[in-house]
Amino acid sequence: MVKLLRILLILLLFPAAANAGPALTAADLRTSQSLDGAWHWSVDPYRDGLSGFHGGGVGSSSNRYADIVQADVARDNPTALFEFDMQRSPVAYLPGAWIGHSAEMRYYNGLVWYQRTFEVPALQPGKRSFLRFGAVDYSAAVYVNGKLAGKHLGGFTPFALEVTGLLRAGTNQITVGVDSERHDADVPPPVTDWENYGGITRSVLLITVSETYVDDGWVRLGTDGRITAGIRLDGAHANDAPVALRIPALGLVLEGKTDANGRWTGSIAAPRKLARWSPESPTLYDVSFEGAGDTMKDRVGFRTIEVKGEDILLNGKSIFLRGICLHEEELGDNPVRAITPAAARALLTEVRDGLHGNFVRLAHYPHSEVMTRMADELGLLVWSEVPVYWRVNWSNPDTLATARAMVRESITRDRNRASIILWSVANETPVNDARNAFLRTLIGDVRSLDPSRLVTAALLAGRQGNVQTIDDPLAADLDVMAANTYNGWYTPDPLASVAAIEWRSPVRKPLIFSEFGADAQAGYHDDAAAPHKFSEEFQAEYYRQTLAMARRVPFLRGLAPWILKDFRSPRRQHPVFQQGWNRKGLLSNTGQRKAAFFVLSDEYARRRDGR
Ligand code: GCU
Repeated sequence: MVKLLRILLILLLFPAAANAGPALTAADLRTSQSLDGAWHWSVDPYRDGLSGFHGGGVGSSSNRYADIVQADVARDNPTALFEFDMQRSPVAYLPGAWIGHSAEMRYYNGLVWYQRTFEVPALQPGKRSFLRFGAVDYSAAVYVNGKLAGKHLGGFTPFALEVTGLLRAGTNQITVGVDSERHDADVPPPVTDWENYGGITRSVLLITVSETYVDDGWVRLGTDGRITAGIRLDGAHANDAPVALRIPALGLVLEGKTDANGRWTGSIAAPRKLARWSPESPTLYDVSFEGAGDTMKDRVGFRTIEVKGEDILLNGKSIFLRGICLHEEELGDNPVRAITPAAARALLTEVRDGLHGNFVRLAHYPHSEVMTRMADELGLLVWSEVPVYWRVNWSNPDTLATARAMVRESITRDRNRASIILWSVANETPVNDARNAFLRTLIGDVRSLDPSRLVTAALLAGRQGNVQTIDDPLAADLDVMAANTYNGWYTPDPLASVAAIEWRSPVRKPLIFSEFGADAQAGYHDDAAAPHKFSEEFQAEYYRQTLAMARRVPFLRGLAPWILKDFRSPRRQHPVFQQGWNRKGLLSNTGQRKAAFFVLSDEYARRRDGR
């Protein structure tokens, strides 16, 4: 009762989630005009494009989003003054973070303006148009033909802005102000252990739909053996409207009518011929969500996931998660966080076929929908998370609103992804009352948005001598406990002593080791009896000993070592071994397998074959 009152109090005291706007779920599958490709870009480190030198409105000499061609105006008016020129600024090919635009942009952290034009052959009366961004890191202000279309806060979730009244027939101009700088109230706060990757990092689409359209649709298989679905229409005719869910390959049609809020939910017994999705057989079905003459299509797998005691059951059968962690960063010497289907496939096939894995923790923020759709296709189970990471400003209502928006946007985008089984609300956060209340609010949001998946969080466990205990009070609120552990890397434990460390938990739930790892620079070999840290031999022995420790934990149901590949981190500046990269990858940044890769792949082959 107390817990319920506490959550109610928080919900009353703190504002509703930020960033409210259209969902346009499965927008990436809709017919659209792509705005990916060549954009002009112009840095604005002192943000002159936002306000004058004494504050107030932006001056014409620095207004990047004005609906003009600066060179034309300057040609016709000798007294015109511009201290920028968007159309003659350099060109970059988006999506991709500005780190790849030029060498000077390697550590740029601030405001960059992007601009391009696009053609609209003719306006379509009775239709509605939206600009949909897959992600912009960290905040975005979008202008169309000189007018503000909208803003978004948060670097890893999609947003859609209605531009129906801003478009014109012929040539249109879009300008986006992207600001990568984060402050203590942001999510995540400024200090993390990964590269900032500021910029427009995922695709930009122009989507035109009917006046009333299907803004959101979801469907899932429940442990009750029924298929449950929901549709939400948006527009003047959204209420009391006929809607339908269709799965042609199953001959399934589920029809109904929306309520006064344009929403409908319904359910039906799952057809006997339904083929369940699993890593061994990742079956996907074409699904249509129809209403008001519009159709939202998606490709959906059907499976169940639940916890029973200390077991995780997939389709009613206990499973062990043979996983690895990933950041959103493609293989290569100069990643720009541009996750194409080929880049996603290269990473995930290393997990499935190289490591014999069935699970990925997509850390520490919602990854590209390209990655989660690829996991659906390849048959990898997914842990998805929001960047509530380390020192979050727990008592700030704006911070909570931002985190809640991220949870809502992430789940709304991905709840049709069969691969996703776990929603994580935090990573390595310090235990205190404000943090517990903050995270319990997020857990409440997750459960109301998606009661069908499991909730977890990466915790830190207490240690007394040789015993580690899951002593975080939040464990009681989770379905699956998870702990990051680095004994033998961040602690002075001799590797030979790690295997004997014992794990205990006061609550009987499944546990995942959501992180463990050691740095190794690919190609640095040390054949000494006690190899040095940063050598491949040390990393391999660290894995052997930590896996031996893991085998002794009776309630362990998953492993997600840190991390598949070396990744950029400004915190890692050892000039010989790191050079701005966190080297805990089992692969080098270019994909070279280190010795530890084979230690883990052998372990997973054994676990897969029940040996
Ligand atoms: C932490 C953290 C990671 C970090 C890792 C490391 O557990 O969750 O984001 O990169 O440890 O220190 O390498």
